[in-house]
This record gives sequence, structure tokens and C-alpha cells, in this order.
Amino acid sequence: MDISELLEKAKDASKNAYCPYSKFSVGACVLYESGNTYLGCNVENSSFGMTLCAERNAISSAIANGEKSEIKAVAIYSPQSTKCMPCGACRQWFSEFVTTDDFVVIVEDDDKTPVSYTLEELLPYSFKLIH
Ligand code: THU
Repeated sequence: MDISELLEKAKDASKNAYCPYSKFSVGACVLYESGNTYLGCNVENSSFGMTLCAERNAISSAIANGEKSEIKAVAIYSPQSTKCMPCGACRQWFSEFVTTDDFVVIVEDDDKTPVSYTLEELLPYSFKLIH
């Protein structure tokens, strides 16, 4: 699956966002080695700190659906902004599940073309516990 397709799926997912407070909708599409993709959108709450980001929602969906293969990429899209980069909490979530160096985060660049980042670029020196 190419990266433009992943961004398209993230765009579709952003249409389901529940964001009455920020009015900032986000969609995410996570791709696994199996070829399976899972979608997520942000889900806000009147107790703001309980808001769930699109990326964590997508990864949770993969886990809940029994996905066991390697996580390969996540595309993130917001109709309200180009370069919708993942927040720090979501970067830490990627770090929990990413096992390969070729994992990429894909966002729409300012010129509307897809751009990719490695996790090393987005979260160097990340915290990990051995388990
Ligand atoms: N949001 C995400 O869904 N992902 C991120 O990585 C950053 C922020 C959402 C949370 C909230 O609903 C809205 O964007 C504004 O912060």
C-alpha cells in the first residue's frame, strides 16, 4: 500500500472525529506487516484530559482486533492543518509497539504531498522498559 493511500484512509477517518471542543478533527491509519490497516479518530471529552488521540485510537483498534504482525507506518491527517504531527504521548505509544527501524510516520506536507519521518527523528532517546 502506498503512502498516499494511507493518507487518504486517514482523511476518511478524520470525518468520524468527535471534537466538539477543539473543532480540530484528526484521522489516523496504521499499517501492519500483514497488510492490514486500522483507523482511528480523535474522541474528545468534556473532561479535556480524557481526550483520546486518533493515533492511539487506531493502534488500540489493531490490538483489539488481534493484530500480531509488525507495525510499519502510521498516517495522520487533519483537514484543519497540514503537517499534523503526532503529540508527545502518541510518539511514546509508537515507541511501545515499534520494533523495526523502517517504521514511518506519514503526514501531509505544506505543499500537500506526503512526507515521512522515522521514530528516531520524532522521539530520540526514548524511554523503554525491558519486558
Ligand atoms: N490530537 C490527535 O488526535 N492527535 C495528536 O497527535 C495531537 C492532537 C487531537 C486531540 C484533540 O482532540 C485535538 O487534536 C486538539 O488537540
